[in-house]
Amino acid sequence: MKIVSIVGARPQFIKCAPVSKELRKNNHEILIHTGQHYDYELSKVFFDQLGIPTPDYNLEVGSASHGKQTGTMLVEIEKVLLDEKPDVVLVYGDTNSTLAGALASVKLHIPIGHVEAGLRSFDRNMPEEINRVLTDHASDLLFVPTQTAVTNLKKEGISQGVFLVGDVMYDVLKQSTGIASKSQILEILGVQPKEYFLTTIHRPSNTDNIQNLSQILEILSSAAKKVIFPVHPRTMHFIKKHGLERSIGANVHMMKSVSYFDFLWLEQNAEKILTDSGGIQKESYILKVPCITLRENTEWVETIADGWNVLVGTNKEKIIDAIQHFNPTGEQRDLFGTGDASTKIVKIIEDYGSDSINHT
Ligand code: UD1
Ligand code: UDP
Repeated sequence: MKIVSIVGARPQFIKCAPVSKELRKNNHEILIHTGQHYDYELSKVFFDQLGIPTPDYNLEVGSASHGKQTGTMLVEIEKVLLDEKPDVVLVYGDTNSTLAGALASVKLHIPIGHVEAGLRSFDRNMPEEINRVLTDHASDLLFVPTQTAVTNLKKEGISQGVFLVGDVMYDVLKQSTGIASKSQILEILGVQPKEYFLTTIHRPSNTDNIQNLSQILEILSSAAKKVIFPVHPRTMHFIKKHGLERSIGANVHMMKSVSYFDFLWLEQNAEKILTDSGGIQKESYILKVPCITLRENTEWVETIADGWNVLVGTNKEKIIDAIQHFNPTGEQRDLFGTGDASTKIVKIIEDYGSDSINHT
């Protein structure tokens, strides 16, 4: 089969790594990088580290407003799809690259597989929520990571083509923890295991709002421990724009985003993680590290129910209380499958291809 896979942002490179490896065993994969993320530390480092094949097409769309960015991708992806005529298009997650890929394909009547389908925060202010809903409703094969996601889709009338396969991010994590343990990042940063907090922020609700951003930075600066803070370029842009660097405490170690293996090792050894990332909430659950989520809602509700993740929003008292007292102890379940989601996804795509051939 000929499959076009579309990626563009950091978490999508990580998600596509195991699927791409599996797909290429028996199929012809064409990889499109939309160019949504383009800095070395947000893009190429993941291709190098995770052995992701060089994209066949880099659309070099870059940063822009939602409409311009998504619209440019739509135009460029359509050209590739018309040339390549794939049997299936695979899209990942919930970014503008996901939506553009889904829209381009559905209009050309090319079947779409959506990896990480069915997630909902029920917060339409998040651009990702719009991207998820529209992509799911355009998709033919919905690869769902959790039972909650199956239920979410059912409530929207989608039950055909839904496959509960587990989470491909767990596949990558499982395959990478051995090699990540060779990372020298703790020594380089001069921190001891379980003696620091790790933080990431990049949601517009936290970065684009100066009150929220400065409050988060103030709280991190008052923490009693060192805070390791790989800074997303969106966040750095707003820190610089508002001149907030000067007020950040000496305990907060800011640096550029780090590689996947270094980040996994930092996560595994952190005392606690403070984040607004989706992927990091899952990884901290799997790695048994308490996660303090700087959001009002989450798609990963199981991690909250199991007690390893707590939603604190931007409430100062709640954040400080969680930094000081949030110490979960419960057992972890296999919430995200068994680490073979990629194998299952590829088998389903191949069976779908054989069925289509048998019916024509
Ligand atoms: C995007 C996704 C978000 C995902 C995140 C992963 C959308 C709507 N958002 O958010 O769902 O969680 O990626 O990290 O698709 N920039 C650079 N260099 C880069 C990329 C971006 O400097 O390589 C800066 C630019 O100033 C840009 C800003 O970051 O305007 C935001 O980038 P963008 O891709 O639009 O959104 P993210 O916040 O990265
Ligand atoms: N990550 C990384 N380096 C960093 C920060 C995050 O490799 O400096 C990885 C992290 O391990 C996870 C993914 O990036 O696998 C999460 O991506 P992000 O937070 O950008 O997006 P989200 O999951 O919120 O969509």
